Amino acid sequence: MEFFLDTANLVEIREAASWGILDGCTTNPSLIAREGRDFVATIAEICEIVRGPVSAEVVATHAAGMVEEGRLLARISEHVVVKVPLDAEGIKATKILSGEGVRCNVTLCFQPAQALLAAKAGAAYVSPFVGRLDDVGIEGMDLVRQILEIYANYPQYTTKVLVASVRHPMHVVEAARLGADVITLPFGVFRRLVQHPLTDKGIQAFTEDWKKVPDTDIVGQVGRWLEAHGR
Ligand code: G3P
Repeated sequence: MEFFLDTANLVEIREAASWGILDGCTTNPSLIAREGRDFVATIAEICEIVRGPVSAEVVATHAAGMVEEGRLLARISEHVVVKVPLDAEGIKATKILSGEGVRCNVTLCFQPAQALLAAKAGAAYVSPFVGRLDDVGIEGMDLVRQILEIYANYPQYTTKVLVASVRHPMHVVEAARLGADVITLPFGVFRRLVQHPLTDKGIQAFTEDWKKVPDTDIVGQVGRWLEAHGR
């Protein structure tokens, strides 16, 4: 499963990228507004850091405007994926942009029929919003399951399922168990994936016990051993 970060915060993106396992990034107008920085400069910088798919969202509400914005955004970097809303205008725009070779992430997907339309329009990604569905008492992961089931029936569709609106690590586990292609994570969730109190406790105990061995310098000890054995 590919891991994207769902943020426009460069500090968070740099930190996640330094782990070496970050595949891409998603932004939206709200995340861009939260940073208070220039939109285009931010997207360009994210592309430089991530060097993988970076979603930049259009804000026009009619297909012609979405297409115009999308064409321009795609010229910022080869890594830009144009994010388009999943309404009728967005589907029209996705069909045109995809036909021109511009990759689209069709966003705000809340029901499987919408995802079917996104695939038919040639979207590179569809983004089901699991957290926002959970928020209103509908099981978000059921949507992901149904989309994957539908896409599996039609191998000609190459649209990747990008699980979005993620709230906690269990969303990540459930998405991976279902075989979702991509998940986009807020930085807080990304960081929590690695945390477990028993891991911390174990590291602490090993570190303490290591102080009791006669020679604690692994690098020096191994270096001498390798030299003595001609390796
Ligand atoms: O990238 C869009 C999506 O992930 C937004 O999530 O938390 O605002 O529902 P959220």
